[in-house]
Amino acid sequence: MHIDILTLFPQMYEGIFAHSILKRAREKQLFSVYLHDIRDYSTDKHRKVDDYPYGGEPGMVMKIEPIAACIEKLKQERDYDEVIFLTPEGDTFNQTMANTLSMKNTILLLCGHYKGIDERVRELFITKEISIGNYVLSGGELPAAILCDAIVRLIPGVLNDETSALSDSFQYGLLSAPVYTRPYDFRGHTVPDILLSGNEKAITEWKLQQAMERTRKNRPDMLEE
Ligand code: ADE
Repeated sequence: MHIDILTLFPQMYEGIFAHSILKRAREKQLFSVYLHDIRDYSTDKHRKVDDYPYGGEPGMVMKIEPIAACIEKLKQERDYDEVIFLTPEGDTFNQTMANTLSMKNTILLLCGHYKGIDERVRELFITKEISIGNYVLSGGELPAAILCDAIVRLIPGVLNDETSALSDSFQYGLLSAPVYTRPYDFRGHTVPDILLSGNEKAITEWKLQQAMERTRKNRPDMLEE
């Protein structure tokens, strides 16, 4: 999978792709990411990328020309399966969307800033709008990073034990069961004995029952769905 990220702040990503699973996915050549500074596509001598809104609202709007120039150049190099704009006005991101996106080959992520982008960017280039939740961040950079992390870990071969993504919370519409490691006894708090029983069937049943119980308690809305 290849992801192009269009942003005004490429430096925000220093570190994010250089650690943990995202780093490993890049090393295994299962994932590549390029960062594109939208400012590099401004033809203005001050590298201006925003302007006042028509109609006189407060705040600035991202201009269409630099974004269009960047997307059009990239589209000459590759076809995109999705051109996604990160915005609080988009569809709320969830595990099902992550699963679907993890099967794509090429994705372009556009990070917004200021008051918004010129509406014509949406009309001309965007295939999907995604929000990471009902709150407003200062830009789309962190949401784009979250999308990358959630998607890339699902690409087959990225995680060592492929089944571990399948046992994640949300994959079966349930939260995960609790997990434990040594020591068996920490200040009198012990590990449930069933996990030491060696009885695979009983352990699987226990995990399912715990997952159901945790979902019922923390996220009853998931069971209703
Ligand atoms: N940009 C600002 N807030 C956002 C959000 N909640 N989701 C996606 N992009 C955003």
